[in-house]
Amino acid sequence: RNLELEQQLQANEWSSKLYHFLLMNTEHGKPAMEYLKNRGFTDKAIDTFQIGYAPARWDTLVQFLEKRSFDLGTMEKGGLISAKQDRSGYVDRFRDRIIFPLHNRNGKVIGFAGRVLGEGQPKYLNSPESKLFSKSRTLYNLHQAKSEIRKTRQFVLFEGYGDVISAWEAGVHNGVATMGTALTESHASMMRGLADEVIVCYDGDNAGQAAALKSIPILEAIGFMTKIALLPEGLDPDEFIRKYGGERFRHRILDGAVSSVKFKLIYLKKNHILLEEDGKVAYIKEALEVIAPLSSPTEREIYLKELSSDLQVSFDSLKQECNELRQAMQ
Ligand code: UTP
Ligand code: MN
Ligand code: MN
Ligand code: MN
Ligand code: MN
Repeated sequence: RNLELEQQLQANEWSSKLYHFLLMNTEHGKPAMEYLKNRGFTDKAIDTFQIGYAPARWDTLVQFLEKRSFDLGTMEKGGLISAKQDRSGYVDRFRDRIIFPLHNRNGKVIGFAGRVLGEGQPKYLNSPESKLFSKSRTLYNLHQAKSEIRKTRQFVLFEGYGDVISAWEAGVHNGVATMGTALTESHASMMRGLADEVIVCYDGDNAGQAAALKSIPILEAIGFMTKIALLPEGLDPDEFIRKYGGERFRHRILDGAVSSVKFKLIYLKKNHILLEEDGKVAYIKEALEVIAPLSSPTEREIYLKELSSDLQVSFDSLKQECNELRQAMQ
């Protein structure tokens, strides 16, 4: 057992409570609370996710930790504070930001994300990578979602904090987030054993759709039944829920999630102008590369039929071309 890590965990726990207290009960926290209320965060959500506020001062945490006799060198390694350039002391890492504590799957606070109130760069400042916190091995909200995930054998994968929180308010309690980074094999294997099915629900922009596409082979390699939720262009799940409500999110977006094959076909289709013959031919070629490797003949038939009616091309010629491609792939 590692004493430094224990102290960092203890300090994180205290800091998380302090940030939450400052948001809920102080004059300093008012603008942050107003920002959250304007975005539609409820008191219940703020409490459940232990959202907090780091004041616009340089030494809120430095003072707080010093008073509690934490070793500041250890605290720096844990990422709560940074050494001044001239090494004459320490300053807080998070200043004037909304704080989202990040937990490991056992509910221990391993880091923080701080969002600017409004516009500013970076939009989210995270704890640095450390022995305690690694973004590629952390899924936001897993500690709270895991019981619902076990029960339903399913989880919903989001990009960000706001998405998980809005979905939770909409009654979706099996949501976790990759926190903007690409889904990794560690993320996926953390979920093995908890669930059989995943709905990838990334943002409805190019970055989100490209990330969803990349996540498919990683999730399927672990053996997850993988579905993809389609959001209207330009909306993320949080924005969709705020705009259209949770009911519509659950029944239209989550229940309407498509198979990974269907998603790939939709994704590829966007890159081609189907009114032109060569666009059509190029799309068919790419689509067949997705369909041909499918091992189930009925599955292949279903997608080939859809492709046939979608593009006004005969089923027989598509099937022939698909079979030729299969042969070539063996
Ligand atoms: P997004 O850019 O989609 O942000 O990044 P968001 O979650 O919709 O943020 P809001 O709604 O404007 O508050 C998705 C996720 O990527 C990570 C965060 O985890 C974010 O939730 N991210 C994004 C960062 O870590 N740093 C950044 O500067 C931006
Ligand atoms: Mn529930
Ligand atoms: Mn995004
Ligand atoms: Mn987003
Ligand atoms: Mn958002």
